[in-house]
Amino acid sequence: MSTTRGDAMLLRVLIETSRARRGLEIGVFEGYGAINMGIAFERTGGRLISIEVDPARAKTSEANVRQAKLQKTVQVLCADALELLPRLRGKFDFVFIDAVKKDYLRYLKAVEPKLKAGAVVVADNVIVHEAEMKGFLNYIRRSPDYETVILRASMEKGDGMSVSCKLR
Ligand SMILES: C[S@@+](CC[C@H](N)C(=O)[O-])C[C@H]1O[C@@H](n2cnc3c(N)ncnc32)[C@H](O)[C@@H]1O
Repeated sequence: MSTTRGDAMLLRVLIETSRARRGLEIGVFEGYGAINMGIAFERTGGRLISIEVDPARAKTSEANVRQAKLQKTVQVLCADALELLPRLRGKFDFVFIDAVKKDYLRYLKAVEPKLKAGAVVVADNVIVHEAEMKGFLNYIRRSPDYETVILRASMEKGDGMSVSCKLR
């Protein structure tokens, strides 16, 4: 369930090149993506909030983040992202969506009011699971507020990620 090495590197490069300072991960599993994004946020002087609904996975990912010495940069919160997102304060300039595929549009809608102009939104598994996330892909491709590209950074799972810039 972890993101691939190539995709994790793409996340790092996107955070580093956009100089993102406040990130959000929706769906953490064991923390592989969180650790890689944490490395990038440590470089930009930013921070990452990673939300995981499963308590055992949240605990494991928190321990893995601590082992990677990234606990000052990455905060793992155990919660249902759909319940927590509307309650989070402040704005975000980087979002990685990687939880229940059919809920991608709901995650985006919940976080949209908190996106800064120029924010980067990345969604995983958009090639293999395209049918389950048609609503999300149609929305993000058709909205004049986003520019979107689908990238395949790794052949490991034959999948890819959408990368969008929120223009305003
Ligand atoms: C594909 S894995 C995440 C992989 C991780 N992003 C990485 O880079 O390694 C999806 C995770 O989303 C979690 N999840 C599912 N629904 C969720 C929700 N509503 N809120 C938060 N996490 C959720 C699952 O428990 C699972 O651990």
